[in-house]
Amino acid sequence: ASTLGAQAAQSGRYFGTAVAAGRLGDGTYTTILGREFNSVTPENEMKWDATEPSRGRFNFGPADQIVNGATARGQRVRGHTLVWHSQLPGWVNSIRDANTLRGVMNNHITTVMNRYKGRIHSWDVVNEAFADGPSGQLRSSVFRDVLGNGFIEQAFRTARSTDPAAKLCYNDYNIEDWNAAKTQGVYRLVRDFKARGVPIDCVGLQAHFGAGGPPANFQTTLSSFAALGVDVQITELDIAQAPPNAYASTVRACLNVARCTGITVWGIRDSDSWRASENPLLFDRGGNKKPAYRSALTAM
Ligand code: XIL
Repeated sequence: ASTLGAQAAQSGRYFGTAVAAGRLGDGTYTTILGREFNSVTPENEMKWDATEPSRGRFNFGPADQIVNGATARGQRVRGHTLVWHSQLPGWVNSIRDANTLRGVMNNHITTVMNRYKGRIHSWDVVNEAFADGPSGQLRSSVFRDVLGNGFIEQAFRTARSTDPAAKLCYNDYNIEDWNAAKTQGVYRLVRDFKARGVPIDCVGLQAHFGAGGPPANFQTTLSSFAALGVDVQITELDIAQAPPNAYASTVRACLNVARCTGITVWGIRDSDSWRASENPLLFDRGGNKKPAYRSALTAM
């Protein structure tokens, strides 16, 4: 096939991109978006600060724009994200009462998921809950500090009862290296959830890589999570300087794991990237395909 999405579809996978509502008026951007990708992730528009900036007042305008546009183009949508310590409004961060916060978290999950019920293939229910470094434990956040470690289980149970058709993912960065303590911490969480019947369907590995690309054991990480009985997805791929072989090995690792169901790059052109100075994406500032584009395409 001649596009990323169509090539991924040949093995039953998706190839997606992060989309920013503010760029949908840019013709170069939307031309590539419509041609190359069969899944989209709102880059910021479904985050808590965008969807519930003050308590109980929901704003779905920008997220609707992305979801409606994707539907019109025949693209699937990843939901990103319901519970995350970052891009979290101050009113949530300052809650100190557990019953209050539990109610607020559950209401946020149910209201946002219900808005898009049946239209989201996978939800990042909880994002980046684990600490960096050697601890392998959860990071400090209002959710962990006020609700305890059980907030993740609570979030997934609420999510499952709200939209039973959506795949429910735990998503994080720096969990690509199988030997990292953070990876092992997430692995233990997923193993525990599967053992106790807590609903979880997928692990999202963000894959924000340096110029060296994925660690040599990346495929081992993917297959090890998959062996627990969950899908894995590469959810936010970008690679400093976009070396073609680094993109190829990332794509190959996914294609080599049956339960790696799709890949999302975190933006279209280098100029669209949150890491723009590193030129980490598949299209240059003019919207031209970079060498990494062909490398990713031919790796599928
Ligand atoms: C980033 C967006 O790309 C930026 O536009 C925003 O300013 C900050 O967030 N991990 C995630 C994503 O889960 O939501 C982040 O996206 C990148 C890191």
